[in-house]
Amino acid sequence: MIAFTGKPLISLAGVGKRYGSIIALRDVDMDVEAGKVTCVLGDNGAGKSTLIKIIAGLHRHDDGDLLVDGESTSFHSPREALDAGIATVYQDLAVVPLMPVWRNFFLGSELTRRIGPLKLLDVERMKEITRKELSDMGIDLRDVEQPIGTLSGGERQCVAIARAVYFGAKVLILDEPTAALGVKQAGVVLRYILQARDRGLGVVFITHNPHHAFPVGNRFLLLKRGRSIGYYEKDQIHLDELTAQMAGGAELQELAHELEQIGGHTEELRTIRTDAT
Ligand SMILES: Nc1ncnc2c1ncn2[C@@H]1O[C@H](COP(=O)(O)OP(=O)(O)O)[C@@H](O)[C@H]1O
Ligand SMILES: [Mg+2]
Repeated sequence: MIAFTGKPLISLAGVGKRYGSIIALRDVDMDVEAGKVTCVLGDNGAGKSTLIKIIAGLHRHDDGDLLVDGESTSFHSPREALDAGIATVYQDLAVVPLMPVWRNFFLGSELTRRIGPLKLLDVERMKEITRKELSDMGIDLRDVEQPIGTLSGGERQCVAIARAVYFGAKVLILDEPTAALGVKQAGVVLRYILQARDRGLGVVFITHNPHHAFPVGNRFLLLKRGRSIGYYEKDQIHLDELTAQMAGGAELQELAHELEQIGGHTEELRTIRTDAT
């Protein structure tokens, strides 16, 4: 358990990133603290993945500062970020579908034991630990021997979260973990986000769904076309405001106006607009 110090584990200050002539991020600030969930919200192309790739060591920022434990840092590889305690779970999880759950849990960090000159995989211990860690997170798997491909998308996300917790991550980054899931499964993943938080990790939760972000988030960064359009603590914003900002109330209004001019029926759009603002 990491003691909550109030000092951010990670800070972004004025961070910018270009891909050639495309400006993917411009002047973004964000803090990640232990025992808190920081949500990053935005539409497609807003720069969410770019932001986390900088923290995860896949890309390097061009402008501003990335501070890790207060020190200015620029990761050169995902390995460096991982060594600094930053674990990332991508939407297309890096799992081997036909391998048993326990193999996937220990992939790349297998436990071994020695018998004389031989070094063997310690299969029993790995199974035992996998079973215990999953059960501690409240994940009840009948059999850790079953191929991970047989698990639902939500369960796979949960295994990935349990794995990051077990291997001692300080920061857990989740890129749209609920995007491809139904309501019930999304709920399960949201619960594990809270468990990771309660174990003292600083969680970065990327989503375009304010209904997923609001119940679990402590703060919310809203991105639009690479810029921050808002950064709120939970007590500074309500769900309906967050939804309205995400829905782009002004843009819907513009669209309704255009449709009216070409004689379209705009009743439905008006309803959306009223709901959104
Ligand atoms: N590797 C890349 N090369 C060039 N442009 C990119 C690359 N990755 C992302 N972009 C562009 O940067 C912008 C932000 O993308 P991204 O961070 O993936 O947004 P999001 O995850 O919010 O959908 C988009 O305009 C996207 O096309
Ligand atoms: Mg993305």
